Amino acid sequence: MMQKIVIEGSHRLEGSVTVSGAKNAALPILVSALLTEGWNTFDNVPDLRDIRTIKKLLTDLGAKVDTSGSVVKIDASGLNSHEAPYDLVRTMRASVLVLGPLLARLGRARVSLPGGCAIGARPINLHLKGLEELGALISLKEGYIEAEAPSLKGAEIYFDISTVTGTENLMMAAVLAEGHTILRNAAREPEVVALAEVLNRMGARITGAGTPVIKITGVEALNPTSSTIIPDRIETGTFMIAAGVTRGNIKIQGCVPNHLQAIINKLRQAGITVEQEADGLRVTGAETILSTDVKTLPYPGFPTDMQAQFMVLMCLANGLSVISETIFENRFIHVSEIQRMGADITVSGTSAVVRGGQRLTGAPVMATDLRASASLILAGLAAEGTTEVSRVYHIDRGYESIEKKLAQLGGHLWRVPE
Ligand code: EPU
Repeated sequence: MMQKIVIEGSHRLEGSVTVSGAKNAALPILVSALLTEGWNTFDNVPDLRDIRTIKKLLTDLGAKVDTSGSVVKIDASGLNSHEAPYDLVRTMRASVLVLGPLLARLGRARVSLPGGCAIGARPINLHLKGLEELGALISLKEGYIEAEAPSLKGAEIYFDISTVTGTENLMMAAVLAEGHTILRNAAREPEVVALAEVLNRMGARITGAGTPVIKITGVEALNPTSSTIIPDRIETGTFMIAAGVTRGNIKIQGCVPNHLQAIINKLRQAGITVEQEADGLRVTGAETILSTDVKTLPYPGFPTDMQAQFMVLMCLANGLSVISETIFENRFIHVSEIQRMGADITVSGTSAVVRGGQRLTGAPVMATDLRASASLILAGLAAEGTTEVSRVYHIDRGYESIEKKLAQLGGHLWRVPE
């Protein structure tokens, strides 16, 4: 059933909220269970549509998956398929994360080549090039990547572009490869570090995760483990902006401030107060929001996954700001929707010029991708009048009960059938 979120804007947020486990850490970590035989236990796994998709894929591959609340147990000793079908990959690109582990465990993989995506072309050429360097033979047949490697051998791999899931895929292939692998210009995102920690608990030998050079010494086999998914830094950042756009005062519990330095910095430049307290971050909005430019970059730079949300804050700021998107070529699809609410934004190439100080007014708008939907909810919270965000299945991919969490903070919003 299609649903929409209805938001009655202009209510100040107050109170405290707890962040869920990180989607983009949980996805590769659940997949890493494919590298072991026996039961792995993962805690703090968020209940999201993308997580259900990856569990379905793991089940289809022959793994046993057992979910109880936020605890997910996975046993891949029965792994008996090497195929990720089109129907799953097209609903979630991160399905390509099974490529590395399947090659490492079974010596072959057949994975649907993901198509384009609302936010950009998003090729996976660097995943494939790296796997070839580890010795895989790769071809494209009928829309599927067919990869084969009787054995993988360590290699020196250089990524032309920093890629998060590319780094994760290669790490998961190299842990069981023979000898030494070096990944250069590796992604440094906290989710990459979280995956490396889980793999090391399984018995892998990885050093340097979190730096641009990751070194991996292959081992014969890995053992099941237990671990806890790190808190979602993008969910945290989204709540921080919610406090900013409603001039609220909220406490965000369970986050890791160190993963949020770029976001905290930009919010402070915008005049928002962010204080570290014993159990989380306190964010207090400012009457006058200051315009500040922002450019998305790989971690530790400002995350592309926060660009749309930050733009809403800048719509309310006291002047002009330039928002540059350097990661994805088409990630301004939220702009035309926010414009329907009265925002003054001009997009030119990879930059958006936001003229702040306009009043946002409620309107019916449409979600187009995960982070764009989050920005529309934020705009709705700030606007005068009622906003209806349709196609909320996009938001359910990556935010756990967002309308409930925001309502708990005093936001007036609810979910209704469309
Ligand atoms: N790229 C290539 N070739 C490749 C791989 C990437 O050209 O083989 C390019 C991409 O097209 C893009 C850039 O490299 O321009 C960076 O993309 P990256 O590979 O890092 O993105 P990803 O791994 O596909 C993850 C997150 C995204 C997040 C990006 C950037 C997961 C499951 N997804 O995607 O999350 O935006 O990193 O930080 O970790 C989201 O959660 O809403 C989301 C889109």
